[in-house]
Amino acid sequence: MHLLSLPPLLTLLVFTAALPATAPPKPLPLLVWHGLGDRYDADGLRTVGALANKVHPGTYVYYIRLDEDGSSDRTASFFGNVSAQVAQVCEDIKQDPQLAQDEDGVIRADALGFSQGGQFLRGLLERCDGLSVRSLMTFGSQHNGISEFQVCGSYDFVCKGAVALVKGNAWTEYVQGRVVPAQYYRTVNETTGKATEGYLEHSGFLADVNNEREGKKAAYAAKVAGLEWFVMWVFEEDKTVIPKESGWFAEVNGTSGDVTLLRDRAIYKEDWVGLRRLDEKGGLVFRTTPGGHMDLKQKMLAEAFGEYFGPETGEKGDWFERQVDLVGDAPVFRDQERLGDDPKVYLA
Ligand SMILES: *[C@@H]1O[C@H](CO)[C@@H](O)[C@H](O)[C@H]1NC(C)=O
Ligand SMILES: *[C@@H]1O[C@H](CO)[C@@H](O)[C@H](O)[C@H]1NC(C)=O
Ligand SMILES: *[C@@H]1O[C@H](CO)[C@@H](O)[C@H](O)[C@H]1NC(C)=O
Repeated sequence: MHLLSLPPLLTLLVFTAALPATAPPKPLPLLVWHGLGDRYDADGLRTVGALANKVHPGTYVYYIRLDEDGSSDRTASFFGNVSAQVAQVCEDIKQDPQLAQDEDGVIRADALGFSQGGQFLRGLLERCDGLSVRSLMTFGSQHNGISEFQVCGSYDFVCKGAVALVKGNAWTEYVQGRVVPAQYYRTVNETTGKATEGYLEHSGFLADVNNEREGKKAAYAAKVAGLEWFVMWVFEEDKTVIPKESGWFAEVNGTSGDVTLLRDRAIYKEDWVGLRRLDEKGGLVFRTTPGGHMDLKQKMLAEAFGEYFGPETGEKGDWFERQVDLVGDAPVFRDQERLGDDPKVYLA
């Protein structure tokens, strides 16, 4: 039998004997937002959804898309107005009957974002009134923006087109309204370490959702502080996201390479986006995983999903008790379907 180790979860479990055999509590639905150059109907992303279902059977997975056509959805990961995209997703999820809303009309869900999908999900949470998120998990995201644009694949002309438009024009309205990565591009004055005027004035997305401007939006901070968990994964060898520490909201001095961690930054100390409040209640989680950008392993994902997704806390312990046996100290799923030995998950 394959052993799936879920040590953090086990600490929550109490293995008592007889409990009434009721139906397992329903896991929260899961919103998944893919990264740049990926598409919502890609095999890799479906593998992730299937895995979430294996760990928490009955999880309804909603794959966020800007177009039902997968190819157009991929193009929209390069081109479009991110604020308009986030607003569209907010409307779309409210139209989905399976994202059952409670009596107050609020959607309660977990959220999983890969790369830019991570900061877009955070923006969605901050701006979308009818959405309440329990766990937000991001992998290799650019929460503090990028200081350089990524290198495109040789034949990826959509990517090359996007990067070509940005060169020297990043702060024009034309680019900010159309090129997706430009809307989380962020420049700082190397002397003062402060965000530049160009960024603060013209950033189409990031400066707003990070509440870096005057007139900070308390509602944004309240939404983030209201999370139960915000789990931020950084790939240890990430060469695609520059700088990779952006995945933890850290700031990197482009000249010296010095890293200023989130807790030493004004965004945290003055709690512009609720991260400090969330941290003080123990809900802010910094994680690393070996490998480069989007180097994902099923086992690692399964453990993370087991720990942070599924039914709302409180119901979880009981449910796991019925699903899991112990062999020695190791948990074994009663379900016979097993995960392979560390198979990779391929995402763009
Ligand atoms: C992007 O869309 C938003 C919302 O529709 C709009 O308010 C904003 O002006 C647009 N930005 C640009 C640069 O066109
Ligand atoms: C950075 O800030 C310093 C001090 O305010 C200023 O003198 C300098 O011109 C700024 N550099 C750039 C590139 O804007
Ligand atoms: C960034 O590093 C350079 C080179 O070490 C240094 O001169 C500069 O003061 C640093 N900037 C900040 C904001 O610390």
